[in-house]
Amino acid sequence: MKLFGTMKISDNMVEVGGVSAQSLAEEYGTPLYIIDEEQFKNTIADFKYNFLSNQLKTNVIYASKALLNLYVANIIDESGLSLDVVSGGELYTALKAGFPAERIFFHGNNKLVKELQMAIESNVGTIIVDNELEIEILSDLLKDYKKSQRVLLRVNPGIDAHTHEYIKTSKNDSKFGVSIFDEDTIEIIKRIHDDEYLEFKGLHCHIGSQIFQEDSFLKESETMLEYISRIEKEENIHVEELNLGGGFGVYYTEEDKPFSISEFLKKLVKFIEDYSKNNGLHLKQIDIEPGRSLINNSGSTLYTIGGIKRTFGGKNYIFVDGGMTDNIRPALYQAEYEGIIANKAEEKPAVKYTIAGKCCESGDLLIKDIMLPKAGRNDLFLINSTGAYNYSMSSNYNRIEKPAMVFVMNGESKLAVRREEYKDLIANDIVIND
Ligand code: LLP
Repeated sequence: MKLFGTMKISDNMVEVGGVSAQSLAEEYGTPLYIIDEEQFKNTIADFKYNFLSNQLKTNVIYASKALLNLYVANIIDESGLSLDVVSGGELYTALKAGFPAERIFFHGNNKLVKELQMAIESNVGTIIVDNELEIEILSDLLKDYKKSQRVLLRVNPGIDAHTHEYIKTSKNDSKFGVSIFDEDTIEIIKRIHDDEYLEFKGLHCHIGSQIFQEDSFLKESETMLEYISRIEKEENIHVEELNLGGGFGVYYTEEDKPFSISEFLKKLVKFIEDYSKNNGLHLKQIDIEPGRSLINNSGSTLYTIGGIKRTFGGKNYIFVDGGMTDNIRPALYQAEYEGIIANKAEEKPAVKYTIAGKCCESGDLLIKDIMLPKAGRNDLFLINSTGAYNYSMSSNYNRIEKPAMVFVMNGESKLAVRREEYKDLIANDIVIND
């Protein structure tokens, strides 16, 4: 298993942030989400200090759908990054954490009226509008509130990036945004630009997630800059802001070959600076919106092994005390992960195992065919690179309680999310007596 950040092995035991997996399991129980706080902060700094320009304002926006809770919002706030939210619930969490509303970008293809009202009332900095109907609704609401609102329009540049079908977002029939190849999109831009309550700032796009080809992002930028040039020349509308979304691929297993973020960001900025200057664009600000690449490799999940079984067919299973409820990604996207028996970290691999969860579902497999030292009951099993889209996509299937989340750094651990209890599972149930 590849070790990231402060994760290391000493005396046959995995430790993160200077705290051993064994002591984390004893103090907080398992399954447990562990976040390496130093690694998270270093990754944030990597983005922040490599996405800089002398010519343009640059802005890194954390896509909070990857992982959000009050403490994550605090870390993002302190780092000076902006925050992308996509629902009233994410917005509520950010505001409750005291995240400055002006640094929030509100997304969504079907924002509810109550969500738009919440955004307007809390003075959210930027709303990314998705379609014409939403523009009408937002404009009417703003009129009632007698307020104006900065907006970007989400457009679809038709880039077909190589990634899983479920996380492609920029094909011509995507549900997100409006196509730059549709002539009506120019009319929508004019409509926003002329609106009394909407301040048209620019365009947003996002081509998908877990993408490894730098060229796809450069192509995205080029296509968007050409489109901006057209709008400025033909319509005489200034496009001041370009948000290129997120989607930078990360390592889960040896098959994943991520590019260097620092070098790529410098290249991207230079490309946009040059294009903008050479074509006399009025671009003032560029944004990127990474989620996974900011948090994923700082997270891991610790489980306790409860059972080991050899099937009649000869397959060796390890059963852990979590599964698809805390990590749906293998079942949903055939995602692959690396793992280790945390308390046998220096022992030689001897047996081929499949790691299965405890849910009542045959597809509840976390890792297939992994070579490990001989496992025993009560050993600890750690899966790496679970920071993004694990906790945020967790469920209570089979009425299983969601795990706790702990942040570790410099030999100390902080509980950021408490473990759910059985009583939480019936908290919304109503006793109906007839
Ligand atoms: N901006 C927008 C508008 C997005 O839709 C997304 C992700 C991002 C930024 C951040 O993308 P990232 O940098 O994290 O790749 N649940 C899936 C991923 C869904 C991504 C949805 N949108 C998974 O577990 O792989």
